[in-house]
Amino acid sequence: FHPGSSLVEAFERWREWADEKACCDYSLHVDITHWNDSIKQEVLSLIKEKGVNSFQVYMAYKDLYQMSNSELYEIFTFLGEHGGIAQVHAENGEIIAEEQNRMLEMGITGPEGHVLSRPEELEAEAVFRAVTIGSQTNCPLYVTRVMSKSAADIISQARKKGNVVFGEPITASLGTDGTHYWSKNWAKAASFVTSPPLSPDPTTPDYLNTLLASGDLSVVGSAHCTFSVAQKAIGKDDFTQIPEGVNGAEERMSVIWDKAVVSGKMDENMFVAVTSTNAAKILNLYPRKGRIAVGSDSDLVIWDTDSTRTITAKTHHSAAEYNVFEGMELRGAPMLVVCQGKIVLEDGNLHATAGTGRFIPCSPYPDFAYKRVKARKQVQQDTFSKRCWSCPFCVIKCTE
Ligand SMILES: *[C@@H]1O[C@H](CO)[C@@H](O)[C@H](O)[C@H]1NC(C)=O
Repeated sequence: FHPGSSLVEAFERWREWADEKACCDYSLHVDITHWNDSIKQEVLSLIKEKGVNSFQVYMAYKDLYQMSNSELYEIFTFLGEHGGIAQVHAENGEIIAEEQNRMLEMGITGPEGHVLSRPEELEAEAVFRAVTIGSQTNCPLYVTRVMSKSAADIISQARKKGNVVFGEPITASLGTDGTHYWSKNWAKAASFVTSPPLSPDPTTPDYLNTLLASGDLSVVGSAHCTFSVAQKAIGKDDFTQIPEGVNGAEERMSVIWDKAVVSGKMDENMFVAVTSTNAAKILNLYPRKGRIAVGSDSDLVIWDTDSTRTITAKTHHSAAEYNVFEGMELRGAPMLVVCQGKIVLEDGNLHATAGTGRFIPCSPYPDFAYKRVKARKQVQQDTFSKRCWSCPFCVIKCTE
């Protein structure tokens, strides 16, 4: 939504659209693209009354959605005080703007300019900054779209230091790479344009799958957002104008199964954790979602480990003309899908009914993130109440 529009209105509108169409239960997160006192009140009402507990902010898109460090600090502080999760699009938008101009001045106008103007250190720098601000403000952080090795490394290090941070690679970053930005076929290259960009380093997907298996990265999103060739062609002569987004909803589970489970990086339990349970825990939907148990919702996937299919735009269910996993042979596919106790997919036949999906509110203070945050706040408060301002590294006793 455009900066300037009401967050609550945007939320209500998306709910209307989703309620008409959704075939499975869903929740929403809201982007904060502008920050002031009235937006603050809207965020509060979304948390308290509307069932939203995660909010995304942008460190990129200069002069559009980008938040300054002070704004990030204020937003994180506010979310941390009210039990929210701060989601970040982590890329240094100031430097990207400079690099984009430099590329265009050099005459680089094609999709390769997209990745050349967004080198992975700009992603890593922003992730580090977000982690720093999250730790200063005691706010749980969720890094959306982890696309590069160095960004993932920052998240691993932060988690080892005890920061409450979750990293979300996406189907595309686990399954393919950014070498395709140099494709001679413009439409194909443009179909890979997303931000942060796919890494041109072909060893990246394997590396991210390893960190996902080790638990350093927590959940896998699809970031599914496709455009037709005609829509992408707005940026035919200027890569900065190419609408951003790749496919990945349909392929998500098979990519993880094929790249991480079949390869022996992770077992089946971890597969369930990174595709379902962890997300449910982070967003406070567990154990209603993310668990098979009496009292939990009956949303199930029966997984066919032997199935093999070749991904192609010719047979995918998306309307998009290109598929970023084109030609990839993936093992593992859903055999049967149950939603709210009803079979919605069986033998490749879909029996879903639009409008049956329910909005599931996400309540604030998920234990998975906030147990540690609350305990740390208590320790800080105790220290302050003792008026103990001494050097944290010195052995000085505080006087009561
Ligand atoms: C906050 O920003 C919104 C969106 O730009 C605007 O409509 C509103 O008037 C602003 N409120 C305050 C208190 O500045």
